Amino acid sequence: MAEVVTHDLLILGSGLAGLRAAVEASRVSDGKLNIGLVSKVQLMRSHSVCAEGGTAAMLRPEEGDSFELHAWDTVKGSDFLADQDVVELFVKEAPREILQLDHWGIPWTRREDGRIAQRPFGGHSYPRAVLAVDKTGFFEMQTLYDTLLKYGNFKRYDEFFVTAIIVEDGEFKCITGFDMGTGRFCAMRAKALNIASGGAGTLFGFTTYSQTVTGDGLAMAYRAGIPLEDMEFLQFHPTGLVPSGILITEACRGEGGYLLNNKGERFMDKYAPEKMELAPRDLISRSMITEIEAGRGFKGPSGMDFLHLDLTHLGADKINERLPLIREVCMDFVGIDPVHVAIPVRPVAHYSMGGVSTDIRGATDVKGIWASGEVACVSLHGANRLGSNSTAECLVWGRITGEETGRHAMKTEAIPNVPDDKVENERKRVFDDILKREGRENPYELKRELRELMDKHVGVFRTGEGLKTALSSIVELKKRFARTYVKDKSASYNSNLVHVLELENLLDLAEVMVAGGLAREESRGAHARRDFPKRNDEDWLKHTFAFWTPEGPRFEYGEANITTWKPVERKY
Ligand code: FUM
Repeated sequence: MAEVVTHDLLILGSGLAGLRAAVEASRVSDGKLNIGLVSKVQLMRSHSVCAEGGTAAMLRPEEGDSFELHAWDTVKGSDFLADQDVVELFVKEAPREILQLDHWGIPWTRREDGRIAQRPFGGHSYPRAVLAVDKTGFFEMQTLYDTLLKYGNFKRYDEFFVTAIIVEDGEFKCITGFDMGTGRFCAMRAKALNIASGGAGTLFGFTTYSQTVTGDGLAMAYRAGIPLEDMEFLQFHPTGLVPSGILITEACRGEGGYLLNNKGERFMDKYAPEKMELAPRDLISRSMITEIEAGRGFKGPSGMDFLHLDLTHLGADKINERLPLIREVCMDFVGIDPVHVAIPVRPVAHYSMGGVSTDIRGATDVKGIWASGEVACVSLHGANRLGSNSTAECLVWGRITGEETGRHAMKTEAIPNVPDDKVENERKRVFDDILKREGRENPYELKRELRELMDKHVGVFRTGEGLKTALSSIVELKKRFARTYVKDKSASYNSNLVHVLELENLLDLAEVMVAGGLAREESRGAHARRDFPKRNDEDWLKHTFAFWTPEGPRFEYGEANITTWKPVERKY
């Protein structure tokens, strides 16, 4: 029988949303709740530390910003798919989070007058990205962790790989998983679970995501019966460093950087004459691919043609003061100094707009399960997220779900019983079936093939034909997955086994993303179909919900919540 660990509240993921939720649940319970903080990486290795450019919040009504403006920018940026009640809640909550972090000691970058600095970001009509130089996520994480240490009521499970979320009769029962260091398998039960485990961008080969972000929470929620919403909307950030894909923050353009083609032209004047390099990401990424396809890019390795991001006119002082990480990354990874030389960039897989479907307070349809941050789809970003709204979302819904789960756990008496048969089946699935399997398929080769086909067919521009090819290849890869082998049979740090389990998750998510994209016969936000180039509000102003079935995803659709702003043509 597997060991059973008991907590009041489990938080799956220790990035920004997870840490913010842990702090809030501790606060509302006066430190009385016994919290388990479960992560497959060491706490400060969560991908949130890679967030660079800033966190959006309306701080300066006296200087021309307003809640309405931030909300409008977000709704227009989303290509009108965002739920507008969610957006309105978000813009009002975000400033509180900035000030809260300030009180907890974050070193926000300051203006000359001592007030918190803000910089321009794409699609925002006011410079509202609050920053800690270009290491914003790192400082936010550090501040939240320092704050959490005030409370002694949590236990960290670092390097713990969760394999399943177990639900019975519509209620959360437990999670199962193993300690990666020892291989020890156990069930963890609690009154509430907050899934905060990030997005799914390593589905693609060229990506800004850390290799550890493999969509595990998304896939487990999906298999547990919670629908995934709007998964076809995957954001391509315009400026991934070629060839590694490392994020070159939008703040480079916010601080005045230009995008140039091989003729030395600031080509964005053709596509977004008003906003230029500060148009939203979907529009800039499409413009860049159009330039590259028209032969106005630079030749890159393995077909990765690129454009230039030019910061040279900003000067060394400004780059050192506002973009020191970017300078360091360029020097270390491509051996160039952006003070003197333009940076090679192209659009790169960056963010999942879709995710685990939740209501406005982060609750899923399953009693006892909430989701927050990038893993969740509370419907804030619709079809295209604005830069710097992501870390803000993690803080806002980290707090909200922290409060909700904390209060739920405080008022709930009983901790659910663990369904022993289901836990034992899961143990057998991982350690008898998958670990002992002697198939002939190499899982690393399967992952390489998966990412190659996602890069090729599910990129910035898509076609029905390409998506069909991708879908049938994914179905084939899933069959081959059943014949993969795990060469390493050991218990301790078996990264081979972890890799196979992650691949299983990625394959399920790829199927949902591609099948959802094939069904959506229109272009909206980040989902640009060459065969359906126009937005079609009449048929498609609606959310996609994917439900797991043994045969593959089953789709349902639901209305977007339009309260104030009617859809209009997006011009920038
Ligand atoms: O460009 C960036 O710094 C990314 C920010 C974001 O995705 O919100």
